[in-house]
Amino acid sequence: MCGIVGYIGKNQARPILLEGLRRLEYRGYDSAGVAVLDGDTINNFKVKGRVAELEKILANQDLEGSIGIAHTRWATHGEPSQKNAHPHSDGEGNVFVVHNGIIENYKTLKTNLEKEGHKFSSDTDTEVIAHLVSKFLKSGDDLEQAVRKSLRLIKGAYALLVMAKSEPETLIAARFSSPLRIGVGADQLIIASDPSAILNYTSQLVTLGDGEIAVIKGTDYAISSLVGGGTIDKEIEEIEWDLTEAEKGGYDHFMLKEIMEQPETVRNTLRGRLISEEGKAVLGGLSRVEDKLRQIERITVVACGTASYAALIGEYMLEEYAGIPTEVCVSSEFRYRKAVIDPKKEAVLVLSQSGETADTLAVIKEVKEKGVLTIGIANVTGSSIAKETDAGIYNHAGPEIGVASTKVFVSQLTVLSLLTLFLGRQRQMSVTMGKRITEELLKIPEYISTILKTNQSILEIAEKYKDYNDFFFLGRKYNFPIALEGALKLKEISYIHAEGGSSGELKHGPIAMIDENFPTVFVCPKDSVYEKNISNIEEVKARKGKIIAVATEGDEEIKKIADEVFYIPKTLEMLTPILAVVPLQLLAYHVATLKDCDVDKPRNLAKSVTVE
Ligand code: F6R
Repeated sequence: MCGIVGYIGKNQARPILLEGLRRLEYRGYDSAGVAVLDGDTINNFKVKGRVAELEKILANQDLEGSIGIAHTRWATHGEPSQKNAHPHSDGEGNVFVVHNGIIENYKTLKTNLEKEGHKFSSDTDTEVIAHLVSKFLKSGDDLEQAVRKSLRLIKGAYALLVMAKSEPETLIAARFSSPLRIGVGADQLIIASDPSAILNYTSQLVTLGDGEIAVIKGTDYAISSLVGGGTIDKEIEEIEWDLTEAEKGGYDHFMLKEIMEQPETVRNTLRGRLISEEGKAVLGGLSRVEDKLRQIERITVVACGTASYAALIGEYMLEEYAGIPTEVCVSSEFRYRKAVIDPKKEAVLVLSQSGETADTLAVIKEVKEKGVLTIGIANVTGSSIAKETDAGIYNHAGPEIGVASTKVFVSQLTVLSLLTLFLGRQRQMSVTMGKRITEELLKIPEYISTILKTNQSILEIAEKYKDYNDFFFLGRKYNFPIALEGALKLKEISYIHAEGGSSGELKHGPIAMIDENFPTVFVCPKDSVYEKNISNIEEVKARKGKIIAVATEGDEEIKKIADEVFYIPKTLEMLTPILAVVPLQLLAYHVATLKDCDVDKPRNLAKSVTVE
C-alpha cells in the first residue's frame, strides 16, 4: 500500500523524508513525491517511478526547510503517473496533502467542488482533500478546523498529513482505518504510516487511533478525537524492532504478515462496494459495460496458478447465484486452444494479482481481436492486464511481497463474490438473497480474525506433520479448489510433495496411494456435500491414512474420525472457501519455516511470471 512520511523539527526535513521513502520502498509503489516548506513557498517534487529518480531530480534543487511531507504511491484511483503522485495540492500552492487509503465518495465531492470553481489536476481521490481544506481555510477557519470539517465530509479510509503555507508552523495528521504513527525524537517529530520510516531516528512511538487527529507544532503535538474534540493522552510506546523486522510489521516473514492482514484485505476489497439495504454490489470499474454485461449468456474465466483456483470457485458462484454458465481454463492452455466464443453473448474474465502474467495477457489480446468483451480482476493498478481489458475490478489488496499468493487470493474470492452479487442482481437473484450475501460478506473479516487466533494450534499440528513426505488435499464443490490451493501452498514453499483434488475422485485412482505415511487434509465444512466428504474420510481412515480436517465450528462429530481439526466459523456455502483457505495457508507457512525454507522467496519461483 502507499507510504507516508512527514517531518517537523529543528533539522532539515529533506534527508529524513527521503530516507523514510527509501525505507518504505519494500512495500511496493509506482511513484513518489516530497513537499517541503521554505519560507513562503512550498516546494513540491513528484516522479513516476523510483525514489532514486526523485533523488536525481532533487540533486539540482534547493529543498531547504524543516517541515515537509512525502509519499510513495501505489495507485488506486488513476494510473501511476507524475500528476497522480502525491503530495497533492489545492492548485494554489497553499495546501499540500499526502494520503493513504480510499475516499469512497470522492466523485460527488469533486463534482461539487468543480461546480464551485475548483480546478483539479489529477485523477486521484486524494486531491479533493486538498481542495476541501483550501475552501475552509478561505472561509476563515484555521488549518485544524479546515481539516476537521473536510474529514467530516469524507467517507472511506485514510491516513493523511496536511500542511499549508498560510500556517507554516503546523502539520496536521489524521487517521481512519489506515495506520499512522508519530515518532517522538528530542528535537523532531517524524510521522509515518510504517515504523520502518521512523526507527532510524527514534524508537519512541505514538500510534494514532481511528478517528483521531494530531495537531503538530514544532516538537509539540496534541491528539484529539475528530468528532468530540478534547485532548487524548496517549502513551509513548518503545518499539524495539530492528529495521528489517519493522518492514515486516514485526512478523518473521512477509508471507505471515500478509496472512495476518487478511481481515483488513477483505475490508479494503469490500470498501464502498456494497449497498446493504438493496443487497447489491457497486462496481465502478464495470459501469461502462454494465448494459453489455446484462446481455452476457456465458463467461470464460482465465488465469494461472492460485488465481486459476480462485477462478474455479468463481465458476461455482456465478453458476449457482448469477445463473450464468461459466467455464474456467488456465491461460497457458486457453491461448493455444481453438476456443469457440460468441462475442455477442460471451465475455472473458481474467484474474491476475500482478496484472503482468504473460499467458493471461496473451489470452486477452487473442480474444479482443475476436471482439470479445474482456473484464479484468487485477491487484496492480495500471498493470498491463488492467490496461488491456475493456473494464475491470481492482482488488485493493495492497502490494503482496511474499512470492506465494495469500491475501490476494482471499481478495480475489471477495471480488468474485461481489461480481456474483452484481451479475446475479442484474438477473434473477432476489433482494433477500442479495442481502444475505451482503450481510455475510461484511462478517468475513471478523471470521478470518477468529481463525487467525488459532495460529498457535496450527503451528503445533505443523510440528507433528512436518516430516511426512507426501500429502493429499481433498475437497468438494466450492472447496475442491481450496484443496488445490492448499496443496499448491504447501508444495511451493516447503517443497513437500502435495496433491490436491476432488474428494469424489479418490476412488478413481488416488486412494491407491493411501497408507499411514500419506496424510490427507480434507476441506469439509458443513455444507451441501458434507455427508459425501465424511464417506470419503471414512475410506481414507479405513486404510490407516491420517486425517487433518477443516471443519465448521461446532462440528463435534468430525473429531471422532479426524486426527486433527482446524475449525472455521459458519457462513454461506459460497463464502466458505474464503475462510477454509486461511488455516491451510498457516499450515503451509509453519511446515515450511520449521523446515527452514525461505518462504518469502521459494526456490525457482518469481512473483511475476512475465515470460511464457
Ligand atoms: C502461487 C502463485 C502463483 C500465481 C500465478 C499467477 O502462490 O502466486 O500461482 O497465482 O503465477 O500470477 P498472477 O496472479 O500475478 O497472474
